[in-house]
Amino acid sequence: MLQFQNWPISMYLLLITTLILLIARIVWQPPFPLAAPPLLKESLPIVGALRFFSARANFCKDGASKTKTGNYSFYFGKYRIVGLSGVEGRKTFYQSKDFSLFEGYAALLTATPNVNVEENGTKFDVWFLRKITTLMKKDNLVKGLRFLVSDTSSALNRVVARCGTGGGIFDPFDEMNRIVYHLTMRTVGTNEIAESQELLDRSLHLVEVIDDNNSTARIMFPWLLTLKHVKRLVAAGRMYLMINRILRDRRRTGRREDDAVQLLLDEGASTTRIFVINGLLVAKHRISPEQTPLDILGKLTLDDWESDFPLTNLCLHESIRLQTVGTAFRKNVSGRDVQIGNTSEVVPKDGFAAFHLDDIHMNPDIYSDPTKFDPARYLPDRAEDKKVPLAYGGWGIGRHPCCGLYLSFL
Ligand code: HEM
Repeated sequence: MLQFQNWPISMYLLLITTLILLIARIVWQPPFPLAAPPLLKESLPIVGALRFFSARANFCKDGASKTKTGNYSFYFGKYRIVGLSGVEGRKTFYQSKDFSLFEGYAALLTATPNVNVEENGTKFDVWFLRKITTLMKKDNLVKGLRFLVSDTSSALNRVVARCGTGGGIFDPFDEMNRIVYHLTMRTVGTNEIAESQELLDRSLHLVEVIDDNNSTARIMFPWLLTLKHVKRLVAAGRMYLMINRILRDRRRTGRREDDAVQLLLDEGASTTRIFVINGLLVAKHRISPEQTPLDILGKLTLDDWESDFPLTNLCLHESIRLQTVGTAFRKNVSGRDVQIGNTSEVVPKDGFAAFHLDDIHMNPDIYSDPTKFDPARYLPDRAEDKKVPLAYGGWGIGRHPCCGLYLSFL
């Protein structure tokens, strides 16, 4: 065998060149166009701006304060990101049809690039939105309303049975999370899971594993195989198998269910697409004195739920404002640089836009004393959320309003 001491010079050259190319590939960051907002100094070579993941709120606030327009550029790994702020920034962010919400979150939140594949001529995100919008239509929600009430009451009864009589302890965050998951599964998932405590527990556990194992390192270097990513893949694989077993059983036996998955099956959607849609998601009425509160709740119509709880809706609005403090993402998929509002700045072609919701939700010029829980701020005489354009992003705005709004109100 040829000893490495005896390798010809050309072999060494080949090795060194390959190594240099590999390092250059890792180190190289695609340049920002000249018209992009100023590049922040703390955006380092190779890794980019680490504070974007370790201290995001402060990073975005500092970034916006360092430039004239409030827009700023930085890298995360190789990704070119433009942080947007102010009225012009958010108009572009929320209203531009050149941006893709799905591809923005796929790369910068879940580190799953290239998921927007086409099947039968339709890109996944377009198909997904169409289906979710159908599933969230009023008649579909009305059909499931009595199940939502009975699922919630059974869950609460179980909590009471477990710890009510002896004065036991329960974790409201955990129990509420389970109930919300159950109701989501009931509305956009499968009856088999919604009706089996064991499948509910198992699938919720898998969803939580997928959720908890986001890897910042993989967002930075999408080719990196991290332990967290392997855990996510295994959990996603197990979830896929669980849903595939249910679909196979329905197809084999011809059994039908009145649920969202049946709707997708009837339309010929593939198992993969059905799996993704499941995984992504999840007193005047009293007519007789004998009625219990539960009887009354069970008889409310969707319109009653929507219109007859104005104070609850105000509180919900305010709670969502206070807790929606993260960053929204978009990818520029237009194939060209996109101008930011009436500024002369651009978001580069194939680059990303990030909008930190603190820019509106925690802005004292919009919401007085913004950290205070004050549902009355939305009443007509104050209407703080209507003071300036696009001031409330709790349910999405512009081109991407939340499709699950009505279900969430319920
Ligand atoms: C309290 C519960 C919820 C809150 C606060 C919420 C909030 C939001 C927000 C802020 C956005 C816009 C994100 C952005 O602009 O980047 C959004 C979009 C979306 N939401 Fe929700 N959501 C909730 C529940 C749901 C549920 C239950 C579903 C479905 C079953 C759902 C489906 C969607 C979809 C599909 C989009 C993307 C719309 C698009 O791409 O145009 N949401 N939601």
